[in-house]
Amino acid sequence: MKRERPIVEALQKFIKEKPLSLHVPGHKNGSHSNLPLEIKNALIYDVTELTGLDDFHNPEEAILEAEQLLAQTYGANKSFFLVNGSTVGNLAMIYATCQQGDTIIVQRNAHKSVFHALELVGVDPVYIAPRWHEQSQTAGSVQLEQLEQAINSYPEAKAVVLTYPTYYGITAKDIEKQISYCHEKGIPVLVDEAHGAHLTVSNQLPASALDLGADVVVQSAHKTLPAMTMASFLHIKSTRVDVQKINHYLRMLQSSSPSYLLLASLDDARQYVMSYSEKDFVYLMEKRNQLIESLRTLTGLEVVEVDDLLKLIVRAPGYTGFELKVALEKRKIFVELADANQILLILPLLKHGDAYLLADLRIQMKEALIHLKKSQGHAIQLNQSKFEMSAVTKPELSFVQIEHAEKEWVPYVKAMGRIAAATLIPYPPGIPLFIPGEKITAAKLNQLEELLAVGAAFQGEHRLHEKMIYVIK
Ligand SMILES: Cc1ncc(COP(=O)(O)O)c(C=O)c1O
Repeated sequence: MKRERPIVEALQKFIKEKPLSLHVPGHKNGSHSNLPLEIKNALIYDVTELTGLDDFHNPEEAILEAEQLLAQTYGANKSFFLVNGSTVGNLAMIYATCQQGDTIIVQRNAHKSVFHALELVGVDPVYIAPRWHEQSQTAGSVQLEQLEQAINSYPEAKAVVLTYPTYYGITAKDIEKQISYCHEKGIPVLVDEAHGAHLTVSNQLPASALDLGADVVVQSAHKTLPAMTMASFLHIKSTRVDVQKINHYLRMLQSSSPSYLLLASLDDARQYVMSYSEKDFVYLMEKRNQLIESLRTLTGLEVVEVDDLLKLIVRAPGYTGFELKVALEKRKIFVELADANQILLILPLLKHGDAYLLADLRIQMKEALIHLKKSQGHAIQLNQSKFEMSAVTKPELSFVQIEHAEKEWVPYVKAMGRIAAATLIPYPPGIPLFIPGEKITAAKLNQLEELLAVGAAFQGEHRLHEKMIYVIK
């Protein structure tokens, strides 16, 4: 009989026989752990690749069966479980398609794992700036014309890397056309779909890029499915990308001691998607719409809906997202993120009849607003036109040249004309301001000063508290 959750079932069978552990891990089925009881109790499942539990990097039994079910669920030719997040999927797909010195076209508002992959492989990237998404006040997707421009200028590109949906749930409506254009030119499309593992559960959600022709798609199961942190998927549906190469890099980049808790969680999350019905989705939408309606009854609060129906943006005009987040945290409500304008909520992928305390959120929000009104708001008005970037850009120096160059920290006021040695990403808008190898212009320094003045948060390697940035010497 076919197993519904092969890894979970293999583990249950193994545990039932009360095995004595004379193997790794050293906590010996949890008996030698001083962790709090709730964690310690789960350690009985934290085993290793023992007889009956298959081999992660050479699967032939439960793991192979579960990965086949995964491919079937998502309509892929081949799917892999990832135990090191979408991060490792992004690294492997770029390693498998490009070599040092190759050109690659990349959507500029990519996750840092994509930039790390570019650097590790030593490719020569060409960046396409995303268009500004007015409704969400964030960086959105790239435009077809700009992708065409990039491909026509760099027809030698070995791959195109897109992010779909963005963190804030924005999708490119014409991604199918974008993918077709790349394929016409013989270029594979690699999609970082970290925020889209749930997209296949209903056709009312934007389609997964895998269904729209993408060659490789990476998804963080843990972000929107009921999976443990780090649990992720990689799917291949392509004749343009070599499955064996992806497998080769996954073997090198992932641990030789995969966590069975993560594998069980991946198996379970996959089954959750496979068994998700239209009735479940109708129920989820009912709960979501009730929540939106109830929040919209509050004066001083704005709710913005985006393409991904699991995401909601909430604003308290007059106050920053950071202030709203703090006010909610005082009430033990923790949101996904805050930026200068707003907060981002990720709703649970409820099934029919599931209870979740969404109804109370209106009261908590109301209290947070009352609390905010007692203080002076620090609302920030960012003029987004200042963040418009040239559509298609190529850094002055390659990653290989940067690696061999000497670098130094300099006060940013003195950095005009220098070449950036590190990435600097302001939130908002979430588009890298500096990317290694790019020239630092007066316009960019003006943007930096303005962003600092309005209290934007920065990711990347920087010492902005000392007003210093990292440049090539
Ligand atoms: C767009 C995007 N891609 C990739 C990642 C990395 O995913 P993971 O945390 O699963 O490694 C993230 C994480 O936030 C992300 O937002």
